Amino acid sequence: MKQLHKQPTSSRKDEESPFSHTSSTYSPKSLKPSRSLPRSLNYILKEQRLLFILVGILIGSTFFIIQPSLSILSPTDPRPPHISAANHHQSLDTFPHHTSPDTHNFHNHFGINNYNRYASGVGRVPVGIGSKRKRIVVTGGAGFVGSHLVDKLIARGDDVIVIDNFFTGRKENVMHLFGNSRFELIRHDVVEPILLEVDQIYHLACPASPVHYKYNPVKTIKTNVMGTLNMLGLAKRIGARFLLTSTSEVYGDPLEHPQKETYWGHVNPIGVRSCYDEGKRTAETLTMDYHRGAGVEVRIARIFNTYGPRMCLDDGRVVSNFVSQAIRKQPMTVYGDGKQTRSFQYVSDLVDGLVALMEGEHVGPFNLGNPGEFSMIELAEVVKETIDPSATIEFRPNTADDPHKRKPDISKAKELLNWEPKISLREGLPLMVNDFRNRILNEDEGKEDK
Ligand SMILES: NC(=O)c1ccc[n+]([C@@H]2O[C@H](COP(=O)([O-])OP(=O)(O)OC[C@H]3O[C@@H](n4cnc5c(N)ncnc54)[C@H](O)[C@@H]3O)[C@@H](O)[C@H]2O)c1
Repeated sequence: MKQLHKQPTSSRKDEESPFSHTSSTYSPKSLKPSRSLPRSLNYILKEQRLLFILVGILIGSTFFIIQPSLSILSPTDPRPPHISAANHHQSLDTFPHHTSPDTHNFHNHFGINNYNRYASGVGRVPVGIGSKRKRIVVTGGAGFVGSHLVDKLIARGDDVIVIDNFFTGRKENVMHLFGNSRFELIRHDVVEPILLEVDQIYHLACPASPVHYKYNPVKTIKTNVMGTLNMLGLAKRIGARFLLTSTSEVYGDPLEHPQKETYWGHVNPIGVRSCYDEGKRTAETLTMDYHRGAGVEVRIARIFNTYGPRMCLDDGRVVSNFVSQAIRKQPMTVYGDGKQTRSFQYVSDLVDGLVALMEGEHVGPFNLGNPGEFSMIELAEVVKETIDPSATIEFRPNTADDPHKRKPDISKAKELLNWEPKISLREGLPLMVNDFRNRILNEDEGKEDK
């Protein structure tokens, strides 16, 4: 019995010299095999010691089997369980540059190095971690396009966080989602940094209509530059995929028609629209530099004129202007001679294109627009047909730097994203008119809380 308690542990072995023991029974050398074996066996079999040994082995092996799965839930690894292992695997594969000092610290802090184990299938993945559900940020998600995008993502089953400062966005655009546990709304200005854990970032925050972006041009360019920098920085830190909603305005007053993505544009850098046009061009540059320099997975969409429900009623964009004026029985204002052309895309087509771009494998830029080309006078005619055949047109002098022609070449998106718009202007306009009519008749615009 005494001998058993003297069985040296490994640390004891280190501390004690084996030659210091004088007891003959203690030294293995002194044991005679023929006598000691039966004694040992005898000893082990006595008092159910064998049973205790077996139970000990069982407990030990159970611990080592379940230990890897326990560590994912440990408090030192605050990675929220929503990030799917599959998704993260992809992120880690795609971002080999995540060894820069800031990302290295972040990885250590957030235990991202541990994720490799789970992503590569070693250890057990708790239920829910392997789910395909994504967590997605939509900046500007309370705006016109953003709110439709959020609807689609929520309907698909994703968790969506909207970041918006409500400059042009409205809570009413997302109010129907307030009771949904997969939806979150954060009042935040993207010119300030924010830290969130997400898989994808759709970066839409920016006033889009001339009335709004010219209201405070310095803030517009700040939103485009600092806002985009902040969201790209976030994407880099957390290994999220980033999509920029750029604009056809990067082509300026184009000398090429229709516009292909390869066209570099014809933009006035010092005009009244430059805060938006040059702001978006800089945002594209930043996006590509983060992609090339920091390995961030990026996507760039160049959006052409889009219309649909939830547009601001009086934002100066031609479709919303004409529709509001025709419903209010006011003359439709046409700037210049009305021969300048635009193409008009229904919002659900755009949202499909944005999601196809985000989920696809191509960086872009991609033109997302409807190639159907209408002059302002033709558009006014379609609005008259749809709303009020007696509506009239009023001509006013054109605004500075208004492009003469705009029509996307969407062959690249057709080929690589398998995307093209489905809804014609004559089909889409009535859907927008119903929404505008309700809002104007209820006079809810002036009464809505922001
Ligand atoms: N609708 C179009 O025809 C069109 C065309 C080309 C490009 N785009 C781009 O698509 C995006 C969305 O456009 P939209 O038509 O929905 O415009 P919108 O004005 O309805 O939406 C923009 C949203 O961004 C928010 N926002 C603005 N500045 C912000 C800031 N600093 N911080 C946080 N939130 C801010 C606004 O409150 C609003 O909710 C924009 O980036 C725009 O440039 C739109």
